[in-house]
Amino acid sequence: MCGIVGAVASRDVTATLIDGLKRLEYRGYDSAGLAVVAENNELDLRRSVGRVASLESICGGISGQIGVAHTRWATHGRPAEHNAHPHTSSSQVAVVHNGIIENHNELRLVQKERGFVFSSETDTEVIVHQIDWHMQQGQDLFNAVRTTVSELHGAYGLGVVSKHEPGVLVAARSGSPLLVGLGDGENFIASDMSALIPVSQKYMVMEDGDIAKITSTSIEIFDFQGSPVERAVLISTLSDEETDLGGFAHYMKKEIHEQTRAITETLEGRLGADSVLDLPFGENAREIFDKTKELKIIACGTSYNAACVARYWFEEFGIKCDVEIASEYRYRKHVVNEGTLFATISQSGETLDTMAALEMAKTLGYINTLCICNVPESSLVRASDLTIFTHAGREIGVASTKAFTTQLVTLLMLAICLRRRRLGDGRSADVMEAEIVQELRSLPQQIENALDLEDDIIAMSKHFADKNHTLFLGRGAHYPIAVEGALKLKEISYIHAEAYAAGELKHGPLALIDEDMPVVAVAPNDELQEKLKSNLEEVRARGGKLYVFADANSDLESDESTLVLKVAPVNNYIAPVIYTIPLQLLSYHVALLKGTDIDKPRNLAKSVTVE
Ligand code: AGP
Repeated sequence: MCGIVGAVASRDVTATLIDGLKRLEYRGYDSAGLAVVAENNELDLRRSVGRVASLESICGGISGQIGVAHTRWATHGRPAEHNAHPHTSSSQVAVVHNGIIENHNELRLVQKERGFVFSSETDTEVIVHQIDWHMQQGQDLFNAVRTTVSELHGAYGLGVVSKHEPGVLVAARSGSPLLVGLGDGENFIASDMSALIPVSQKYMVMEDGDIAKITSTSIEIFDFQGSPVERAVLISTLSDEETDLGGFAHYMKKEIHEQTRAITETLEGRLGADSVLDLPFGENAREIFDKTKELKIIACGTSYNAACVARYWFEEFGIKCDVEIASEYRYRKHVVNEGTLFATISQSGETLDTMAALEMAKTLGYINTLCICNVPESSLVRASDLTIFTHAGREIGVASTKAFTTQLVTLLMLAICLRRRRLGDGRSADVMEAEIVQELRSLPQQIENALDLEDDIIAMSKHFADKNHTLFLGRGAHYPIAVEGALKLKEISYIHAEAYAAGELKHGPLALIDEDMPVVAVAPNDELQEKLKSNLEEVRARGGKLYVFADANSDLESDESTLVLKVAPVNNYIAPVIYTIPLQLLSYHVALLKGTDIDKPRNLAKSVTVE
């Protein structure tokens, strides 16, 4: 994943590079570095372990009109200064790289024979030596990069500068996102436009197989064979407004509290008086939905959990739905039934496994591809036939919160659109649809009610902060909600958390129960509540401590082994959205007590653009 920024201008670009890196830290934050071609035409390289702020502290006095910069999420080689990017070769060329070079071992052997000395354990270093080698053989920077990329196997977004051509920035893309930002007498590259908000609104998206030669006044893009290609100039709608913490201590907390607004905006324009509209899913959504008999949904992490919840809705409405993790889907054979719509879910729209699954799916005979995404200018959106945006607003905390609940709402709307086709002509809503639509409209208020539980959850969190393990239980559509709750807790508090379908407890995990293993249960007032209560008794009988989020109308009560937190009664269809909120708050407050880095938990990144 990693973040790349590059700039070429007729002013010092150091501050722009550092600012861009700060904006890209969500892509990785274990080390950072930059290289500029200084006034004496020498490369000035600075790298440090940790955050961009620590890089900034060692950049005093550095100045150059062209440079590349990088914030890293380690793949090959531990986080260390010598593994941080940019990598250089004989102080002639500097390279920043996002992705993985699969044939780095072979290239390394050849380069060692040529006399190159390696100073890192990264796969990236072979790229810079290879470019240096081709320049030594007489090629200019652009052609040296072009020859080099033809020798690489794997995924890359590259930014390259050389002391020999101090006005030329070269960028190449294959499998890792990269775009070119257009400025006034200056130009840029970046992994995404958020890096360039203060300096550029216009941009071109590089496609796989593109290589760009960029100066302060010109941008030329070619394919890897050297033929010029045209890329449309787009206008970015990103602004800095969404990055303000707004008085909250962490982005995660802000984003949890933003869910009322996020869901209001996700519903906006998508509901008729008593129906869910087809058109917001795309111009030809009606025709595609008419043909859809089955659904295949692919996603990763939290987005995958959203898909798992939605499967309950789809199948309850009579639409066969299969859900799979993208990294598994891409590496097996598939049987695609006629009339199957392929859907992806992604907050970022840049998750490499999900992108690769989509590309593969396009060859397999699905009727169309639909993407549920939060980022309009993302790769997944561009590659899909239909898109529906979750209007969550920018999500900065690595742990996904408002993106998840807006995905749920969007999936429920999709399920309703497809349900209509099961009922008849697909155009007219019935009473049940009208009822669910009213429930959807009431969601923002119900979320507010759930957020009001925060003080009780703060008290509850004290029971978790000194624990090493936790179990989460749920049944039906609340089983994946329990999985999502466990994922949140482990991501930001580093407490080991596992989720089980409550009925599965007796088949093994019950052996783990003791007083040091808090058990969290999600207990809405649905047809499975009685079954769940029996499962909770199994825990209680073995001395376990229970923390239950239960419907206020249920007869579940607190006692010496059980703490019950009452959630306002809620309709079954929207209950998964509501029961997510207390679990998010619990994770946040446990992490707060533990003093972890909540918005940027260790070893993770917001956007996962590597395999
Ligand atoms: C969630 O809290 C995660 N950090 C992670 O699981 C995330 O949901 C996953 O990487 C998928 O990302 P996407 O939605 O951007 O594709």
